Amino acid sequence: MVAGARINDFMDGARAAAEEILENISGGRKVLVVSHMDADGISAAGIIGKALLRAEADFCIRIERWMDERTIGEALHYSGGEALLIFTDMGSGYLDILRVRAGDRRVIVLDHHQPIGTPSESFMQVNPHLFGIDGSRDISSAGISYLVAKFMGKDNVDLAYLAVVGALGDLQDKYEGRALGGVNEIIVKDAVETGYLSVETDLLFFGRETRPIHKALAYTTSPYIPGISGEEDKSLAFLSGLNIELKRNDRWRALRDLSQDEKRRLFSALHDYLVSKGFRSEVAMSLLGTVYILAKEEPWTPLRDAREFALLLNATGRMGTTGLGVAICMGDRGRSYEDALRVLENYRQIITKYLRWLNENPERIEEWENIYVLHGEKDIDEKAISTISTIISMSLPRVEKPLIAYSLVSDEGTIKISARTTDSTARMGLNLGEIIRIAAERCSGIGGGHDIAAGAQVPYNQRNLFLKYVNSLVGEYMARIKKDGG
Ligand code: C5P
Ligand code: C5P
Repeated sequence: MVAGARINDFMDGARAAAEEILENISGGRKVLVVSHMDADGISAAGIIGKALLRAEADFCIRIERWMDERTIGEALHYSGGEALLIFTDMGSGYLDILRVRAGDRRVIVLDHHQPIGTPSESFMQVNPHLFGIDGSRDISSAGISYLVAKFMGKDNVDLAYLAVVGALGDLQDKYEGRALGGVNEIIVKDAVETGYLSVETDLLFFGRETRPIHKALAYTTSPYIPGISGEEDKSLAFLSGLNIELKRNDRWRALRDLSQDEKRRLFSALHDYLVSKGFRSEVAMSLLGTVYILAKEEPWTPLRDAREFALLLNATGRMGTTGLGVAICMGDRGRSYEDALRVLENYRQIITKYLRWLNENPERIEEWENIYVLHGEKDIDEKAISTISTIISMSLPRVEKPLIAYSLVSDEGTIKISARTTDSTARMGLNLGEIIRIAAERCSGIGGGHDIAAGAQVPYNQRNLFLKYVNSLVGEYMARIKKDGG
């Protein structure tokens, strides 16, 4: 945890939010929860939703792509001036817009984005950054929501596993051996103690306990293995060349059936393969690390591995079926889950398709003086650009150059930007959230996020200006970091 973190004050903030939510419920007020559409946002909504259900609240959940005037306007409209408004995984980055639109309306914000602007006195904001806690790595919005839920009722401790899913969805596994750390560690402990989670160290294949190895490898997307992730036949061909017995007595073997020596050979082959595809060794090394197993989920399902669970939620969010993700978080393992499996399959295919397309069109990724630019234009769906940006950023040779990827949002005449840098560059002091926000605001857009991952929406005709601003701002930051000996 960052030195000077005021964890007790942060916890007091979560307790105060819980008390206020409970007071509102007992006063008969309805509640509207508005959350972000990625895995962290959906798990945050699921956690708060479940806690509200248990507290017998009358509530509604909305999931939004991002925070802007429209999102706030609709939230105010649907809450009818009456309901308690809770924003999860969004809000802190846009306090000024929220203040102007919401006026002196009481709003609770549970968010881990860097706070920007001046909150109204009537906002209650539970945000780790306000207490010296690193919101990019040490706790996600699902984690904050979980802490609030736990103060709402002790029985909500059984939701800790969802906060682990949210943190992994936001790639917070930045501690040694791809472990969660900081406040997330407290949440992991709760999830283990309630019997929902077990933690091991192994190769990070999705379905390592149960799926045939070639399937587990093909299902693995964290890290994404180009030419293998999403492609079962190619995964099988890759493994067949390694002299590892894939079937024994006519039964497929799972990763857990392999000897240590077989696992070592498999890891080393995958490591070399990723490096040959341009990935940095540290990305290849990240195939080995801390596995978070959701012990109460069925062994064969994508819900068993917390990272794969997060992928499923992300898929429902990006494919416009957020209700399925929220329902799964609230416990549905029937219809919504069945539907979500199809959505996940579809999502995997779309991501694989775009990565292949980029492979065939390498000119779409340009190296500029200080950044890489991925011109998704109209060819990469705006809903996929976030995931594509995350994956591509891992295979770029120059770590100090962030990736700025964008796609056209055709019905709005804007571009959606997804920017990513590496953990080491962010820790040196490159704050992508700030850079993207400043450049977006200069180009009549809005943006923000974390030091390591940020996003924006900017008018299409301003895209070149925006990219130039970002390029020069990154240059200025890097020069300052070098001067300060970073
Ligand atoms: O809005 P929110 O904070 O939940 O989203 C963060 C986003 O940034 C996620 O989509 C996550 O996958 C992405 N991310 C990333 N690389 C990191 C950290 C976060 O792509 N190192
Ligand atoms: O959409 P994407 O996953 O690229 O977003 C990266 C991060 O930037 C997320 O945490 C997201 O919430 C944040 N973001 C933001 N403002 C925007 C767009 C994205 O704060 N306009």
